[in-house]
Amino acid sequence: MRKWTREERYREFKNEEEIRELHERIAKSPYRQTFHVQGVTGLVNDPNGYVYHNGLWHLFYQWCPWGAVHGLKYWYHTVSEDLVTWQNKGLAIRPDTVYDNKGAYSGSALVAENSIYLYYTGNHRTEDWVRKSYTCLVNMRDDGSYHKYSKPLFGPNPHYTEHQRDPKIYYREETGMYYILLGAQTPDKRGCVIVYKSNEFNKNYEFAGELNVPGYESFGDMWECPSIERISGKDVLIFCPQHLFIKGRGNDTNHNGYILGTMDWEKLEFMPEGSFHVLDFGFDSYAAACASNIGARNVKDPTALTKDDKAILVAWMGLPDVEYPTDDEEWAGCLTMPRELTVRGRRLIQRPLEGLRKLRIEEADMRTGKLPGACEMEFINRGEDLKLSLFTDEDGNGGMTISFDYRTKDLLIDRSSMRKRFNIGLGESRTRNLGHNLAHLRIFIDHSSVEIFVNDGDAVFTSRVFPEESEHGWKCEGDVSVRIWKLREAVTDDFVL
Ligand code: FRU
Repeated sequence: MRKWTREERYREFKNEEEIRELHERIAKSPYRQTFHVQGVTGLVNDPNGYVYHNGLWHLFYQWCPWGAVHGLKYWYHTVSEDLVTWQNKGLAIRPDTVYDNKGAYSGSALVAENSIYLYYTGNHRTEDWVRKSYTCLVNMRDDGSYHKYSKPLFGPNPHYTEHQRDPKIYYREETGMYYILLGAQTPDKRGCVIVYKSNEFNKNYEFAGELNVPGYESFGDMWECPSIERISGKDVLIFCPQHLFIKGRGNDTNHNGYILGTMDWEKLEFMPEGSFHVLDFGFDSYAAACASNIGARNVKDPTALTKDDKAILVAWMGLPDVEYPTDDEEWAGCLTMPRELTVRGRRLIQRPLEGLRKLRIEEADMRTGKLPGACEMEFINRGEDLKLSLFTDEDGNGGMTISFDYRTKDLLIDRSSMRKRFNIGLGESRTRNLGHNLAHLRIFIDHSSVEIFVNDGDAVFTSRVFPEESEHGWKCEGDVSVRIWKLREAVTDDFVL
């Protein structure tokens, strides 16, 4: 893997000619996605500023133009009318002030005064490379121009370590107050959420305190990307506790999960009901973000969401501190498909958005035994055990296996027999006990990813996978009925900056 110097990683991006050739080369990669948001070059990580405004969904992401490396981060902007087809709009937030001199880090959006405001972390580093996080604000006008406030809303909180970032903004109609949640780390290295409060969206923020989450006082050493969503009449705290081992998750220590409960905004207390759950049981999913104001939207598609107490989530299809086969091609990372979240019992249910059915072009010819590059598969399991292999070689061997053990109710995915193996040290299989029989699978395959929705959203497994040319077969052992649809392109891989 390429070694980057600090100068190379943190080089300022000045004009598109610096990466045009790189983009042209990358656009030819067989692993470019066709219905997932991805970067024109370089590294994509967290989704940011997800919001609906004036007939459009806006979705930004963390972007480092130079290659598959976490260096100087910009916000890149994409839009969609229906959450299915996405268009590249270009650079959004540039790290061009003293407060964000080493990156415009993650954050969220609010529509105020009929305009979009983007709250983000200015990642400042001193000459001695000491990190200081500022919470900054940018107004994106409807003409697409960006206006950065010259001063941050507030600076680093001296009672926490250098790790404090990822502002999530809320307006509470009940009290007319604005709240900003930040993920943070206490001096004794415990992950937590800290809260700022104001009666105006763009000034006067004051530290209101640390969120009390009884039972989670010591749960990982940093909580990245926290948010609290109202879903099906419950509050849901979604966050990424770091440096923690979880059963069934191999050696991966970066997790994205959630706790159901009740949020008291006055007391700043989130009272858990039940335990921490992993959001996605696959290998590559992190930093999930929910759209801010789905109640305000006016989606034309009648099959799309209509109730306000659902959430729409998208995540980074990647993980911190890992490597991917496309690193050598100077790009890595993309975003997941949008998912609709509801609560059933003590769990979140995640379903692919109804509108994604529009991606289906036609049913694939099953006799070929070959997977189209982009497709959706649906399995109805009439039997007990099931063993499905995707991306097998021409002789039917190898590939990624998805197996259900009827006796134990474990669903296991294993990508160790793929030709391109990566992140082996984190473990090449993941297991989830379904607690039920396996009845239904909906699987979305793009050129370098697989998203598996189990039992109508009861569990999701999201993974990157990089099949070689010969790895396009599939086979299934079990008593199942299967349908496969070819999917059309829904992202424009346009070079827009
Ligand atoms: C999560 C994260 C955030 C940070 C951003 C930087 O992946 O580390 O905490 O704001 O990425 O790109």
